[in-house]
Amino acid sequence: MKVLELGCGHGLPGIYSCLQGASAVHFQDFNSEVLQCLTIPNVVANLPVKSESLSSDSEVRFFAGDWSEVHQILPNLQTDDGASNCSSGSSASIGYDIILMAETVYSISTLPALYELIKKCMSRPHGVVYMAAKKYYFGVGGGSRRFISLVEKDGVMEASLIAEVGGGSSNVREVWKLQFK
Ligand SMILES: C[S@@+](CC[C@H](N)C(=O)[O-])C[C@H]1O[C@@H](n2cnc3c(N)ncnc32)[C@H](O)[C@@H]1O
Repeated sequence: MKVLELGCGHGLPGIYSCLQGASAVHFQDFNSEVLQCLTIPNVVANLPVKSESLSSDSEVRFFAGDWSEVHQILPNLQTDDGASNCSSGSSASIGYDIILMAETVYSISTLPALYELIKKCMSRPHGVVYMAAKKYYFGVGGGSRRFISLVEKDGVMEASLIAEVGGGSSNVREVWKLQFK
């Protein structure tokens, strides 16, 4: 499986994917400082290291960029003009099998770019997104429900709620699964 973690920060879902044997795990965040200071040290600390290199069987890579444009540097995607970024030229491997993200839907203004990026990155027809987020982010207006309403309005993907974590707090955390219809 080829996995992409968007807005990775500490990158726990991506690290878990490496440990579970994903063939490739690509970590994405806004700028290179986040990746260098947070993501990479955490990946190194959590994946077994042998002879000064990661012994993970996954191809691990890191990509910095805003959600509105990072598709231009992610490998194996369809470019805006319909060509492929794929170095092998194989159309069979376009897109990611699994896209993971946690705590990425808090800011209303970034939701459309995030959703468009997902549509560009997800393998068709079998790709799947797992999104973990709070139902609402008080004070900033975003949340899982706001993002899901965008998805439902667009109509090309179906969304299903697969987990709810209450933990006694008033703000419920949810995990949603998205797939092309
Ligand atoms: C609240 S943090 C969550 C980090 C990590 N997923 C976690 O759960 O700990 C949101 C992440 O999304 C990234 N992010 C927010 N807006 C972004 C954008 N427009 N483009 C790219 N990354 C963005 C931030 O840099 C940040 O690392």
